[in-house]
Amino acid sequence: MVKVLVLTSKGRVGKFFDINTLPKDWELVYGEALKTDEELLNLAGDADFIFVDAIREISKHLIDQMPNLKLIHSEGVAYNKIDTEAAKAKNVFVCNNAGANAPAVAEHAVMLMIGLLRRLLEGDMMVRTGKQIEAKGSFILDGITEISACHVGFVGFGVIAKETAKRLKPFGCKMSCFDIYRNEDAEKQLGVAYMPVEELLKECDIISLHLPVTKDTENFINEERLALMKSNALIINTARGEIVDQDALAKALVQGKVAGLGTDTLNPEPVTLDNPLLNLPSEHRYKVLFTPHIAGTTLQAFATMHKTSWENMMSVIKGDRPKNIVNQM
Ligand SMILES: NC(=O)c1ccc[n+]([C@@H]2O[C@H](COP(=O)([O-])OP(=O)(O)OC[C@H]3O[C@@H](n4cnc5c(N)ncnc54)[C@H](O)[C@@H]3O)[C@@H](O)[C@H]2O)c1
Repeated sequence: MVKVLVLTSKGRVGKFFDINTLPKDWELVYGEALKTDEELLNLAGDADFIFVDAIREISKHLIDQMPNLKLIHSEGVAYNKIDTEAAKAKNVFVCNNAGANAPAVAEHAVMLMIGLLRRLLEGDMMVRTGKQIEAKGSFILDGITEISACHVGFVGFGVIAKETAKRLKPFGCKMSCFDIYRNEDAEKQLGVAYMPVEELLKECDIISLHLPVTKDTENFINEERLALMKSNALIINTARGEIVDQDALAKALVQGKVAGLGTDTLNPEPVTLDNPLLNLPSEHRYKVLFTPHIAGTTLQAFATMHKTSWENMMSVIKGDRPKNIVNQM
């Protein structure tokens, strides 16, 4: 018998993976609703695997009390809530789904760029309120810019930024990137020029953020860096709210120092109603296009993540090494 403690939504497990394809002697035990380690240990302390929502914590205490545990699998890409050191000390693999939702996030970043360029929300509202002709007339006079005419700058040129560049290449726009590590092969292949960050912020019309949150990247887009940007600059954030100083950005939008923001993430999450970006004066509200942190949550991304997770668990039972180990085992 192989037991899996499932700490994500039962609905998602049923939807994204055909559990009938698992060997007959596998038992899935659903503990998502339980709050404490003790409750989880009572339910499935003898489990071989934990399959866990990326935002749920897995403590040292839980790991230490599960003698049969072999692998903890994050359902998503993040694994910062799992005590990877405690797992390593007990020879338990921790695995994630690195890169699995990169295509989804890249597509979303392109959507935010075009949504802002075409003033999607404002145009929609004007059509709904009988102002179609006014919208068309004023948008034409203000100027509607094609993405092909934009210089796009990637801040952070990792997996998602590269996928975004791949999708932008056919539009024909000029592209540049900044990262602490160079990847000259990818730059060449995708037609992306490397630039120091100050130059990139000064030159680009669209600045697409793809940094992880670290102590060096918190508030990376701050008042000083915002001041370098062009007044027509659009900022796209599919990374994390923490990398932007939201007060400074709200101020820059109101003062016309930058033109727009398309963001999938805010800080903190869950988003609070006092967030400065939610409270721009009404004449500036359409400068911001929000989405509810769904960039990476497509059907295709979840199907890939669930397939990889269950295949990894089956590999471990066969005695093979799983893919995407994140705790240096
Ligand atoms: N919106 C969503 O649904 C969603 C989904 C997945 C990931 N994300 C976020 O997207 C972001 C990028 O993810 P990824 O998978 O492309 O990550 P990645 O690790 O592949 O790329 C990050 C890049 O940032 C660079 N970097 C790190 N610190 C830097 C610094 N101080 N200065 C310059 N460059 C630096 C790294 O060298 C790396 O190339 C992360 O913040 C991640 O949390 C969001």
